[in-house]
Amino acid sequence: MKKSVILTGLRANNDLHLGNYLGALLPMVELQKKYAGKYQINLFVPDLHSFTTPIDHSKLYDQSLNNLKLFVASGLDLADPDTYIYRQSFVPAHSEMTVILNCFTHFGELGRMIQFKDKSSNKENVSAGLFDYPVLMAADILLYGAKYVPVGQDQTQHVELARDIGIRMNNKFGKDLLQPPEAEKDQITFAGQNNRLRVRDLSNPDKKMSKTNDSDKGVIFLTDDPDTAAKKVLGATTDSVGVINYDYDKQPGISNLLDILSALTNKTTDEICKIYVGQKQYKDLKEATSEAIKKFLTEFQTKLNEVDEKAVLGKLSASEEVMNKVANATLLKVQKAVGLRQA
Ligand code: TRP
Repeated sequence: MKKSVILTGLRANNDLHLGNYLGALLPMVELQKKYAGKYQINLFVPDLHSFTTPIDHSKLYDQSLNNLKLFVASGLDLADPDTYIYRQSFVPAHSEMTVILNCFTHFGELGRMIQFKDKSSNKENVSAGLFDYPVLMAADILLYGAKYVPVGQDQTQHVELARDIGIRMNNKFGKDLLQPPEAEKDQITFAGQNNRLRVRDLSNPDKKMSKTNDSDKGVIFLTDDPDTAAKKVLGATTDSVGVINYDYDKQPGISNLLDILSALTNKTTDEICKIYVGQKQYKDLKEATSEAIKKFLTEFQTKLNEVDEKAVLGKLSASEEVMNKVANATLLKVQKAVGLRQA
């Protein structure tokens, strides 16, 4: 029997940071380990999504490849025959499918997307691409009949939309046309999104760690010099409570450090809390977290340097060949259903 598909995409136009590592790269690698042999895993770089907002186009091509190397440095096993890595624009069916799905997606639906509202507010010249991007994402998912689409919370609304569009197509053209992804609550049960670590900005712990934050002071990039990164941690914003508690409402900075330390030392938050909660000064926790970051980055960067680029490129072109076949087969079914090809 054909294996069910787990699919996810990680944007390329980013210098990835610790939040991406703990919230996306590592969970994906863990999923691969957990489900090896049972599921097919599609891990792709949505390069066409990259310039829905303005970027430096001269860097995009290399960044796409670099993102895939980061996955390998994080432990992704390229030898797994059920894992496919590919770039969206190398499978042209994604674009073709988007044009078709556009006509079965409502203007109002897209206008309700929170990401669109956030990213377009107070901006001039918002691109049609930004508005339409959830449809491209639906194509990404529906072309492969992906059952599970592990994403961060900001993307769950888009996965729901993909499901709605898939169901709508099936209602109109026959129930076996597309395989919509599972509903949100089943997605969460599967991938444990609720447990996913959302690392906060070190200097502004009320916000998620993100490249788009005003300053880089609170962001640990995976390419940061380990000593510089260690200093960012020592300078992390905390609070004046004067005793360590794990409480994101009252002490978000401290709680963030406890979570980062536990993730990087492979201990549970409980284990870390047993050591630090109740301490009356923050110095030990800061120093331990800073050391853990330094060690992690040193090791990670060594692994990244050792990634075999030839192996990545080989896997990539082999995967892209297979994925073109799969995607074209789905596209053809849809083209027939809508009358573009003879049924
Ligand atoms: N939109 C996602 C993000 O910004 C990336 C993405 C594009 C994606 N297509 C996808 C994720 C399909 C999962 C499935 O993070």
